[in-house]
Amino acid sequence: MTTQAYRAALLHCVADPNDVGIEAACEFVEDGLLVVTDGRIDAMGNAATLLPVLPEGTEVIEHPDALITPGFIDTHIHYPQTGIIASYGEQLLDWLNNYTFPAEGAFADSAKAAEVADIFLKELLRNGTTTALVFGTVHKQSVEAFFEAAEKLNLRMIAGKVLMDRNAPDFLVDTPESGYADSKELIERWHGKGRLHYAVTPRFAPTSTPEQLTLAGQLLGEYPDIYLHTHLSENIKEIEWVKSLFPERSGYLDVYDHYQLLGKRSVFAHGVHLCDEECARLSETGSAVAFCPTSNLFLGSGLFKLPQLEQYKVNVGLGTDVGAGTSFSMLQTVNEAYKVMQLQGKKLHPFKAFYLATLGGARALRLEDRIGSFAQGNDADFVVLDYHATPLLSYRLKQAKSLEEKLFALMMLGDDRTVKETYAMGVKVHQR
Ligand code: GUN
Ligand code: ZN
Repeated sequence: MTTQAYRAALLHCVADPNDVGIEAACEFVEDGLLVVTDGRIDAMGNAATLLPVLPEGTEVIEHPDALITPGFIDTHIHYPQTGIIASYGEQLLDWLNNYTFPAEGAFADSAKAAEVADIFLKELLRNGTTTALVFGTVHKQSVEAFFEAAEKLNLRMIAGKVLMDRNAPDFLVDTPESGYADSKELIERWHGKGRLHYAVTPRFAPTSTPEQLTLAGQLLGEYPDIYLHTHLSENIKEIEWVKSLFPERSGYLDVYDHYQLLGKRSVFAHGVHLCDEECARLSETGSAVAFCPTSNLFLGSGLFKLPQLEQYKVNVGLGTDVGAGTSFSMLQTVNEAYKVMQLQGKKLHPFKAFYLATLGGARALRLEDRIGSFAQGNDADFVVLDYHATPLLSYRLKQAKSLEEKLFALMMLGDDRTVKETYAMGVKVHQR
């Protein structure tokens, strides 16, 4: 058995602020100790209480000017779009045709996929993100390369091969049968290996035929603990297109519902333009929605209505949605989420925002018994956030009179520079 201890300020969520109130949702210890044994959380609490009872000879690593929190959880991102982040001028459908599809074509090449997977994972870890729900491309080898790279770092990652058999360039389509067979092979090889999980990944309703969506539903029936990951109601023209392709369905969500793609492990990215009935159905089926503020602003998709989803008790996580999203940083993502709420006359409390980036994301992914908080036995995935990362942050934090104020400033001013170290299963995987 090996034990390490980390002494710093500690912060994690134990509940959703909506359920228990702002005060009771987070636990904060000013002079805390995080005790990690064999890659798992052993204890978290006051240094004064825990230091005397540490096993003899335990190494204590001190971070006097830092805050340790659980690793961030990104509930929607595309690794093959790393190279097209910040592409100018288009909204969703033109952005897909002009930038995304051409870029994704290159992932037929395993070497290219491996190269980008490596860059992508490094970028996640530099930003303190330790778990993500990740789109590959249509190519099976894109997901092979991603899982191989994630396995080497012992990361908890969820990914899947894109299913796309129409309305896309020839070099980027599969067939219902090949998509099904390739997904099955990947599930058999990777799902449950180490900390890896598989997500059946139809791109979105317009790029799959009814036959393909039927087979996606069949896969979910065959493997009850795999995920479903897709896009939903992001852009007005997209929604109109879905209605014209599936006139017999009552709306966008009903397409997925009809093919039995809703459920506890189903995550729908965006959901910017949902009606009340759709929110009710998402809630009833335990499905989750990924709120992707930087992407929704960048592509001009619209303002996510968090209060509406909360009213219906829909599980919500935060996503960067890189490459339509403009930052890998969950701190920057929270910053933009705050502004999206402001534009609707609403507030996003710093504790709620922190919840969404950690425990809320874990709950959206049904992984709250493994990640997202410092509960005993959880995977020791955590980040060390540097109060002095930049002169401005340091100066601003000196003025802060409360934890809320401090956390809010960290989220508004923080980015990859704020992440001093990142740990996965108790192992340091990034140091600034
Ligand atoms: N809808 C279908 N594909 C995509 C994609 O790659 N990114 C985003 N943001 N929306 C999509
Ligand atoms: Zn996306």
